[in-house]
Amino acid sequence: MTPLEAFLNEHDERAWGEALAELAPSIHEVDGAATQIWFSFFPLALLRAFEHAEDPEKLAGELLMQGKWLLKDQVDSSHTFLYGHRFWPEAKREVGALAESQTMRAEGSLATLIRETAGRVAASRKVEPSLALGITAAALMTLRQAGLEAFSRTPGEVLLDSKHLKKSPAEILRERARDDSQGLFGFLRTTDKRWTVVWDENRDERRFPVTHTQEIASGAAEDKRPWHELDARCTPEEGPIPVQCRSASCGTCWVGVLGGAEKLAPVAPRERKLMPLLGYVETDEAQPLIRLSCQARAEGAVSIVIPPWNGFYGKYLKRQRGEATVTADDVSSEPTADEAQA
Ligand code: FES
Repeated sequence: MTPLEAFLNEHDERAWGEALAELAPSIHEVDGAATQIWFSFFPLALLRAFEHAEDPEKLAGELLMQGKWLLKDQVDSSHTFLYGHRFWPEAKREVGALAESQTMRAEGSLATLIRETAGRVAASRKVEPSLALGITAAALMTLRQAGLEAFSRTPGEVLLDSKHLKKSPAEILRERARDDSQGLFGFLRTTDKRWTVVWDENRDERRFPVTHTQEIASGAAEDKRPWHELDARCTPEEGPIPVQCRSASCGTCWVGVLGGAEKLAPVAPRERKLMPLLGYVETDEAQPLIRLSCQARAEGAVSIVIPPWNGFYGKYLKRQRGEATVTADDVSSEPTADEAQA
């Protein structure tokens, strides 16, 4: 193990959370939410659960894991929704060089390491350091989770087309803030307003409409293009977001909200109650960045990201902490978003 890997291994989930909280004010607005979402999609505690499991396959079955949750299988592709993905080749090179160097001194904090490494990434691309912080933090966490061999094995490519590569942070922020025009007499519209849900900012065709206050996953289900060819968790009938229960019981439909979190109706009790069981996020916020799309009602245009996995990993976390486990039966006694609105 290299000195950098040993240093990273000394930091648990809480230490990473503290480092990110310290860095958050310095991360450019275009990647503020994206960085938080990336770390929610790839929690260190999930990797550690599998590292420590006697039988990882059995654990995956117990937690009903589906999709791709290990970073070693998606070293170059897990972060395409960060603006800083443009600087991935430099971030990967800097982190790789640091890992190869046997002279790294583990004196500073994790936040300092991320900040200094991001400074070098930004200098090599002549951009503001704030733009490189999120992707550098993701690069170091990817090294921690994937290990140096898997980290070094990939080509380290930027996976964007030239049109999207050219977009500036200001342009992306403007696009996220824009709501759909409702036409000349839009002010007369109420429930028939329509909003756009973008689920991949780097592909123009990856978007679908929803009607005012419709749940995002219901809007997605009306998009019958063959999205199941991209994600084995999807079915031809349900559109681009994987779903199962549609009633806040399974957690399959979780998404990150890059832009417009404030335009989704606040979390209802049933969605709130399921989150600890899933382990996706722990927050009391009314309109958090992680939502269940079968419950989240759109009241404006939003930009979301679909995570590559789903499961009940909160069950594992609660067991580790010796806390009582919430069960799916506890959750099912709460009204769904539909029932609550009725
Ligand atoms: S589809 Fe099951 S929680 Fe949304």
